[in-house]
Amino acid sequence: MLEVKELKKSYGKKEVVKDVSFMIEKGESFGLLGPNGAGKSTTISMICGLVPYDHGEVFVASQSVKQFPVLIKKKIGVVPQEIALYPTMSARDNLLFWGKMYGLTGAQAKKRVDEVLEIVGLKERGKDRIETFSGGMKRRINIGAALMHEPELLIMDEPTVGIDPQSRNHILETVKALNEKGMTIIYTSHYMEEVEFLCNRVGIMDHGEVIALGTKSELCSRLAGSSFIQIKVENLSDEAMLELKKVEGMVQISFQQEAGILEVFAPNPQEAVATVITSAVHAGLKIESVEIKESNLETLFLQLTGRTLRD
Ligand SMILES: Nc1ncnc2c1ncn2[C@@H]1O[C@H](COP(=O)(O)OP(=O)(O)OP(=O)(O)O)[C@@H](O)[C@H]1O
Ligand SMILES: [Mg+2]
Repeated sequence: MLEVKELKKSYGKKEVVKDVSFMIEKGESFGLLGPNGAGKSTTISMICGLVPYDHGEVFVASQSVKQFPVLIKKKIGVVPQEIALYPTMSARDNLLFWGKMYGLTGAQAKKRVDEVLEIVGLKERGKDRIETFSGGMKRRINIGAALMHEPELLIMDEPTVGIDPQSRNHILETVKALNEKGMTIIYTSHYMEEVEFLCNRVGIMDHGEVIALGTKSELCSRLAGSSFIQIKVENLSDEAMLELKKVEGMVQISFQQEAGILEVFAPNPQEAVATVITSAVHAGLKIESVEIKESNLETLFLQLTGRTLRD
């Protein structure tokens, strides 16, 4: 469905996307996970033909985005990070407007508006103006706009940022249902749990690069263990960190200085925990709590970069 080949983009001297490549099969749900400024939106904009790239190529259904921009736009539905709706127009009129952009008119367009309002769960609110909607409802109509022309590939850029849990769940369920009906999905987020719920394959981006790519189980097999030790301390110093790094059998240790949180990765955390605590006390640390936590994609990001996704 999609092939992204060696994409590069710079703004001035800053290279914001560095040699990004990945492929997505038809029917897949692909998650693009990464912290603020990783280059997710820029990559997506290049895929959709909204931002020109400096190097590389993008193929949608084996056709070059550069060569066939109009044809490809018909195959893709984009849900932008920023809401792109007219506040003084009704939800219906906004959807009709987006439909018209793709050549949908008359009875066919009206029928599609009804279907889309049903999909996003806002059938009763169609006649209301967008400015009277909650943030979550606006987001749902924003998704609806991208669905009007029944795209084969739906690309969503952080569609759940800053909304209430109810709308968030609704959006996640909607996307899951669309994917189950055969729509290919690219879902961008810095919420690891959303990507884990929705996506069968994941690309993790950081500083303009894809630093890990694969199915969830492939990525989890790269983890240093299925669990890790998390220690909350009152006082954290570089000297104490150096002490802790000397503990035998430790794979990696990372810390969030401000939160006073230490994450310790060892092949067998249950066995290592006693030694780690002893060393921490020797290093002068005052321990508030110790937990053994399950590893997930967030942990992998932490292991690869030493930072959390939401630093
Ligand atoms: N039009 C632009 N001009 C200059 N710099 C830009 C432009 N668009 C993006 N950037 C820079 O490119 C980098 C990547 O931005 P991008 O929006 O792709 O990140 P992102 O992964 O989508 O982040 P977020 O999670 O915050 O949306 C950032 O450093 C950003 O400041
Ligand atoms: Mg973005």
